[in-house]
Amino acid sequence: MILITGGTGFIGSHTALLLLENGYEIVIVDNFVNSSREVLKRLERLIGASIPFVELDLRDEEALEQLFMTYNIDSVIHFAGLKAVGESVEKPLYYYENNIGSTLVLCKVMEKFGVMKLVFSSSATVYGAPELVPIVENTPLHSTNPYGRTKLMVEEILKDLYISNPNWSIALLRYFNPIGAHESGEIGENPNGTPNNLMPYITQVAIGKRKELYIFGNDYPTMDGTGVRDYIHVTDLAYGHVKALEKLNKSTGIDAYNLGTGKGYSVLEVVKTFEHVTGVSIPYKFVKRRPGDIAECYADPSKANKELKWEAKKTLEDMCQDSWRWQKKNPEGFC
Ligand code: NAD
Ligand code: UFG
Repeated sequence: MILITGGTGFIGSHTALLLLENGYEIVIVDNFVNSSREVLKRLERLIGASIPFVELDLRDEEALEQLFMTYNIDSVIHFAGLKAVGESVEKPLYYYENNIGSTLVLCKVMEKFGVMKLVFSSSATVYGAPELVPIVENTPLHSTNPYGRTKLMVEEILKDLYISNPNWSIALLRYFNPIGAHESGEIGENPNGTPNNLMPYITQVAIGKRKELYIFGNDYPTMDGTGVRDYIHVTDLAYGHVKALEKLNKSTGIDAYNLGTGKGYSVLEVVKTFEHVTGVSIPYKFVKRRPGDIAECYADPSKANKELKWEAKKTLEDMCQDSWRWQKKNPEGFC
């Protein structure tokens, strides 16, 4: 059975669904700090069965031990964590305590129960402002904010853990920019308050919740002056976890993998594609650069293509279509 931490969140819920559809047994844990109970109901409706779920904070060692005693867990996908860059600058201790504290407790309990297969949600943020794109995994790591440092530190902790005991089998999955939603429109990204990220902001403008999109900078050294990112459909990303688990089941070790498409799109290209596939126009205004942003960030995903036998298949058009379907069906998110 696979333990999915943070399984009611955006990426966790899509991965949980895919695993269930592929016949895997799972148990989800979450404390709902950034998700809703409704997600579980939707997942159960989509799959037509009840899903084992335990509400707990991963830092609660006793509760986690109880969980490992109750369920026959053989591997873990660890999504649980806080992810807002700006909030991490304001509340660094909260981020270090939650993201690092929960991983320490999780690994301690895994070790105690002899469970040594772990997939960790890392991020392209560990590359900081890379000198070269596309980004390869052995690019020097660096981070510019507390959120990014929690990812970097956890990667280091997991490397030490493997050195201490080579029976561990660990995949560090460095996600690029996940967007899109399940094609049913039943689950998707549900940001709290004003979205920080581009696609949820665009869909909220499209549905009339916000007047216009503010594009942060049009003077970057890119094709049209706006920032370039590697957007990846969340179901492609979810599939990367299934493939990573398959690899962990075959060999021990620790490896990092870029999960991206390998293609970079500018903010203006995303806006134009969204308008084209949905027929909805997105008014926008250029404003100054957002502090901490970089010009270009996109993956070289060839290591994951080769070693995990995985590649992203969905197009930017698919991503826009699915994000829009989710937003239209759920104008108020999961409430
Ligand atoms: P999310 O906030 O939707 O999901 C994270 C889930 O973890 C939430 O349901 C939250 O309630 C839960 N959680 C947080 N702390 C917990 C704790 N102590 N105990 C139990 N549950 C806890 O985020 P997401 O977009 O699904 O991201 C999943 C993971 O991927 C995160 O670790 C995030 O940092 C990482 N990541 C996300 C992105 C992105 O753009 N979405 C990019 C790179 C990496
Ligand atoms: N952007 C806008 N207007 C907005 C929101 C974003 O112009 O309202 C632009 C940004 O400047 C950037 C692009 O759209 O050029 C993408 O921005 P996002 O905020 O969607 O994504 P980022 O690449 O900035 O950040 C994401 C995650 C972070 C993670 C980072 C690096 O949200 O958690 O990737 O991996 F740290």
